[in-house]
Amino acid sequence: MAFYDHYNYQRYWQGRKYEHKAEKIALEKLLKNIPDKNRKTILDIGAGFGRITPIYANQFASCYLIEPSEKLISQAKKNLKKYQNLTFQKRRAEELSSLKKADVAIMIRVAHHIKKLDPVFKKINHSLKRNGYLILEFANKVNFKTKLKMWFGGNFSFCQDQVPCDRRSLANINKKTIFFLNHHPQKINQELEQSGFKIITKLSVSNFRWPLLKKIIPTEILIWGEKILQPVLAKINFGPSIFILAQKTN
Ligand SMILES: C[S@@+](CC[C@H](N)C(=O)[O-])C[C@H]1O[C@@H](n2cnc3c(N)ncnc32)[C@H](O)[C@@H]1O
Repeated sequence: MAFYDHYNYQRYWQGRKYEHKAEKIALEKLLKNIPDKNRKTILDIGAGFGRITPIYANQFASCYLIEPSEKLISQAKKNLKKYQNLTFQKRRAEELSSLKKADVAIMIRVAHHIKKLDPVFKKINHSLKRNGYLILEFANKVNFKTKLKMWFGGNFSFCQDQVPCDRRSLANINKKTIFFLNHHPQKINQELEQSGFKIITKLSVSNFRWPLLKKIIPTEILIWGEKILQPVLAKINFGPSIFILAQKTN
């Protein structure tokens, strides 16, 4: 059984309108860089219940939704009934096959469940056609809020350490539950390059995911800030979530 078979992921998104909109802005911006999408195929790795599918589905000729959880696949089928260009496959990123190559792959909010990303990046590379694109989201280990916490705690080597930060409780580590890892942006860059990708652009997302800010500032204003600041803040890896557009080089 997959982890998400016994977790209410649709409920997780209740009350997270700001984060969803921030991700929508980022994804739409990155997709604009990809030409001729109406003739292309997209592979959504870890598609979940199809939360982000409506953002891209109408732009592509066909969409392959890869998802290990049976429960989320059936929710996605229900949620996405109106789209005729979707194919669902129950599998993990580690099991991608290169038989049917796609033009674009996206992997949003999945990298934090994967400890060794380089073999997965290589699999994705093999699943893409020549000059294909990857849109990757990962949880950022060295986001501004965490950096502040570390510095105030006297930990000044935190930013140099490229080992992913495990966010699970000790009890869950002992129970060997699914990983919740924040990755280091430099390590991600290196691994993408070693796996045959060049990075085209990067965005810093959900930059204002601070409970107090979300409480006192209307979502529309936070979203306006996201629109303007995602590219700028990416330069200093500010936000908790980083979106990368990369292109296959070999
Ligand atoms: C946090 S959810 C994100 C779902 C969707 N991408 C979204 O942004 O709404 C993580 C998803 O990744 C899937 N997943 C977990 N481990 C995976 C793996 N090794 N390969 C592919 N998908 C995985 C889970 O089943 C779940 O649907």
